[in-house]
Amino acid sequence: MPDSAVHKAFPGRPFATIVQYNRPYWKEYGAGAALAVLFVGISLLMPMVFRAVVARLEAGTMTSSVLWAFFGVLVLIAAISGVARYLQRCLMVRASRKFEYDLRNDYFRHVQQLSQDFFHRMQTGDIMARATNDLNYVRMFIGPGIMGTVDLLRLPLTLAMMTYLSAKLTAIALIPLPIISLLVYSFVSLMHRQSKRVQDQFAVVTSRAQENLAGARVVKAYGVATREVDAFKNVSQTYMRESIKLSAIMAFTWPFLGLVMGVTALLVVWRGGLMVVRGSLAFADFSAHLFYVVMLAMPLARFGWTLTLYQRGAAGMNRLLEVFSETPSIQDDEQTQQHVASIRGAVRFEEVSFAYDKLPVLHHVDFYVEAGQTLAIVGLTGSGKSSIVSLLTREYDPTEGRILIDDVDARRLPVSLLRSNIGYVPQETFLFSDTIRANLTLGRPNATPEEIERALNLAQLRETVEEMPEGVDTLLGERGVNLSGGQKQRLAIARAAICDPRVLILDDALSSVDTHTEELILSALKQFLARRTSIIIAHRISTVQHADLILVVDDGRIVERGTHPELLACGGLYADMHERQLLEEEIERE
Ligand SMILES: Nc1ncnc2c1ncn2[C@@H]1O[C@H](COP(=O)(O)OP(=O)(O)OP(=O)(O)O)[C@@H](O)[C@H]1O
Ligand SMILES: [Mg+2]
Repeated sequence: MPDSAVHKAFPGRPFATIVQYNRPYWKEYGAGAALAVLFVGISLLMPMVFRAVVARLEAGTMTSSVLWAFFGVLVLIAAISGVARYLQRCLMVRASRKFEYDLRNDYFRHVQQLSQDFFHRMQTGDIMARATNDLNYVRMFIGPGIMGTVDLLRLPLTLAMMTYLSAKLTAIALIPLPIISLLVYSFVSLMHRQSKRVQDQFAVVTSRAQENLAGARVVKAYGVATREVDAFKNVSQTYMRESIKLSAIMAFTWPFLGLVMGVTALLVVWRGGLMVVRGSLAFADFSAHLFYVVMLAMPLARFGWTLTLYQRGAAGMNRLLEVFSETPSIQDDEQTQQHVASIRGAVRFEEVSFAYDKLPVLHHVDFYVEAGQTLAIVGLTGSGKSSIVSLLTREYDPTEGRILIDDVDARRLPVSLLRSNIGYVPQETFLFSDTIRANLTLGRPNATPEEIERALNLAQLRETVEEMPEGVDTLLGERGVNLSGGQKQRLAIARAAICDPRVLILDDALSSVDTHTEELILSALKQFLARRTSIIIAHRISTVQHADLILVVDDGRIVERGTHPELLACGGLYADMHERQLLEEEIERE
């Protein structure tokens, strides 16, 4: 399935990406901009009305009815620009929220498709921080950012009106402008650097919080809660300090600009006053001019703020683009044989070696399982058993050698076909905080009640589920019931079985159930597995003794292979394990 999100995102080009995402909403933006021009234009009329009032007062032609009329005009101007401003805000906010929604969905869809190695490289908290905080900055880029930009229209328009009133006085008012630009520029770059620091620190805080919440039980059990709280306080404090610094920089901008604007106004009053006294400027023009000078403060201050929004938004978008530019390392390509629609389930490893990054864990693993047979893998902990099966589901690809399924290189099979035909019960069970039904039918949402019942039976879980308050609709997790380790494992087995896979992998999937239940599950699975290939990883010899082929793995190599009696006869590692376990059982019985 092509990832449409990636076609809209251009790595390294935040602005282009934002434009691409906002194309569908151009009408809203167009209307918003038109409204903005309207209210900016109208509010620029105010000083002119003021000028007319002053001119009449000066000439002594003012009457109370004319004054009322002027008053009415001013109210009308305020009302129209208020309504236009309100409508514009609504349009922009709506469009920017829709844009945020699109981008967030694409982000999650993309993240879902990424391979295991990505999740090893990037912390969950960081992935989340990008989806929340950074995305919010990108949205602000669009909403307040664009509104701020449109507002910048005031700057040239106000200057034009001022020049119209008096070019000379305008030139005087512009003397402090270079200083203002310089100040705004340096404040903005300061703010930019600081807000980048705040953004990075926020990711650290979320990562830390996420880890602590996920590991709350461990943290408590080891009595390290206080230490963790202190550590969290530390990162949180750094975040607070950086945020406070940022607000301090921002807070400084306003009064400073006020000061500079005050000085500008004084300049204008002084020079303008002289001009009025000398008769080279009408008093009415002078007062309107002063009015415009005061009105300049707003867009100037906003200019700096808008620039920060842009910089923060661009930084946020770049952080999102870093994730968008990750491609799943395992996906279909032009060599994929899309016509293959089903698999039988014969599995062959040909001289397979594998390394995580640079750490080699498997060496020349070579075996063959006929479709429908049972393969067992045993070995000490850390010997590489889970790694072998993770290659089969293509969580990773081998570094050397090939894996063939029905004589086709697994890399040439459509990934979706492979995954839907291989039922994988991982060593660590993961259940969602959802109903038992939802967890069970994850890979088969349309399962019938009979199929659900059959799967539960297979995993020896039906009675347990029937005894629960709401049967299969019982909620699991935080707001529901908690299952025991063994019950979770059994639910995971049922979840794999219900998908009717050609190959079933049980990675130590019976480790948490007692030997008696294990026997029940294995005998119930017998019929289910009769026509399927199964790969069973276990530590107990009793689990694997009936397998058609048993591999003994040690340090990433297959050191022994054969059936149970053959392996016992050769008196190696397997025979040792068997003897030890028999002894343990005897001791337990006594
Ligand atoms: N994601 C990973 N990144 C790096 N190294 C890994 C990763 N997963 C496993 N390893 C390493 O690969 C080796 C084999 O691990 P593997 O999980 O395959 O062993 P195992 O036989 O399944 O062990 P167990 O019986 O404890 O489940 C170990 O040395 C382990 O440290
Ligand atoms: Mg393992």
